[in-house]
Amino acid sequence: MDKILIEGGRSLRGEIKISGAKNGALPIIAATLLCPGTHTIYNVPELRDIRTILQLLVTLGATWERIDKHTLKINSDNITEFEASYELVKTMRASVLVLGPLLARLGRARVSLPGGCAIGARPIDFHMQGFQKLGAQLELEQGYVDAKVCGRLRGNTVYFDIPSVTGTENILMAAALAEGTTIIKNAAKEPEIANLIDMLTGMGAKIEGRDTDRLLVHGVKSLKPAEIAIIPDRIETGTFLIAVGAAGGDVTLTNCNPAHLPSLSEKLRSCGIYLETGEKSIRVIRSGPLKNVDIKTMPYPGFPTDLQAQIMALMTLTSGLSVIHENIFENRFMHVAELRRMGADIMVEGGKAIVKGQGKLEGAQVMATDLRASASLVIAGLAARGLTEISRVYHLDRGYDDLVGKLSAVGAKIWREPEN
Ligand code: EPU
Repeated sequence: MDKILIEGGRSLRGEIKISGAKNGALPIIAATLLCPGTHTIYNVPELRDIRTILQLLVTLGATWERIDKHTLKINSDNITEFEASYELVKTMRASVLVLGPLLARLGRARVSLPGGCAIGARPIDFHMQGFQKLGAQLELEQGYVDAKVCGRLRGNTVYFDIPSVTGTENILMAAALAEGTTIIKNAAKEPEIANLIDMLTGMGAKIEGRDTDRLLVHGVKSLKPAEIAIIPDRIETGTFLIAVGAAGGDVTLTNCNPAHLPSLSEKLRSCGIYLETGEKSIRVIRSGPLKNVDIKTMPYPGFPTDLQAQIMALMTLTSGLSVIHENIFENRFMHVAELRRMGADIMVEGGKAIVKGQGKLEGAQVMATDLRASASLVIAGLAARGLTEISRVYHLDRGYDDLVGKLSAVGAKIWREPEN
């Protein structure tokens, strides 16, 4: 296992190319299970989570090859198995995304129930209720959800109490092959869902309401293989914007979509960070002092929970008070204790963190607890005086494509070493 070391206090200058979105690629790879044939997916990031879902697909009978570094071809002619084991699901919760496609194609899916994780309980009850609405029979046995349907699923209205990203994706995929029309109410509107809708539409699905919270899926009898490009990773983009805000400097992010970060852009501008957006690029400059802002995480287009830990690291560098409300996951403050080790003054009250900016951080030994918490510690390390040592960085490899290489290329002193 590796650790990351950062010699902080250097400003960042140059260009960073943004990779394809992890959370865009995962449901699209799962969607290839819906019909036989060879699908082509462009702009796939090189990540551990991508390797995990491909491994899962292989256990189900699919084959895949990388045509080049970022292009995948997946063949799903022979999908004979219908089980996602505990071993795979426990390493990546997004494995539940195979439930919808398997149920729609084979009429059967057996998927290990994910346990709680570092950021919260994260149940999948909305997914399960949705499948039941579409006519599936679900049983829970020995930690697995066993879903069956006799014949095709049947269209119905599915309402989400809270807009769920993977819940919406799972129901969309299942409904694409159902008999009749499915209406998904209070659907999630994240750009990754629009990416999946484009893939499904390319496969021949009939879907209305893209980018809205009311999706209409007119089920079809069969689908065909498709080609799709994964959208740029908005969370990776946001992480680098915040990193430049924290370390200072002048960096241009390319191959990104500025329109996918409406709330973060406004907040960063209020912090005194200069952003210049092009069609597929963002130039970020920070030279002056940082101003404090308050944050409330919300479903898209609100402020993403996946950037809460990173913006908190930035807020520790202001000289004001910042209140950060985490409204999506109940336990997403694991980075607080680690940031405190670097000199941050943060108080947590329920779902609220009060950050009293100290204007600076000091390097320390810290531990990564989940993917985005790890990114916040990297940001803190870039801005801190002295050496920061981050252990358990395998979390970062799940979701950031060559983070260390990309930051080194813009002048950060950051490197990996084997732990112990
Ligand atoms: N929820 C339920 N029941 C469900 C589903 C969700 O109560 O059946 C609750 C959750 O506990 C949470 C809220 O609804 O409070 C929203 O969760 P959502 O279902 O939207 O989360 P998710 O689909 O499991 C995806 C991303 C996460 C991201 C969240 C929120 C993927 C593969 N994962 O998770 O990404 O934080 O949406 O935007 O798309 C990450 O990349 O680091 C990550 C955690």
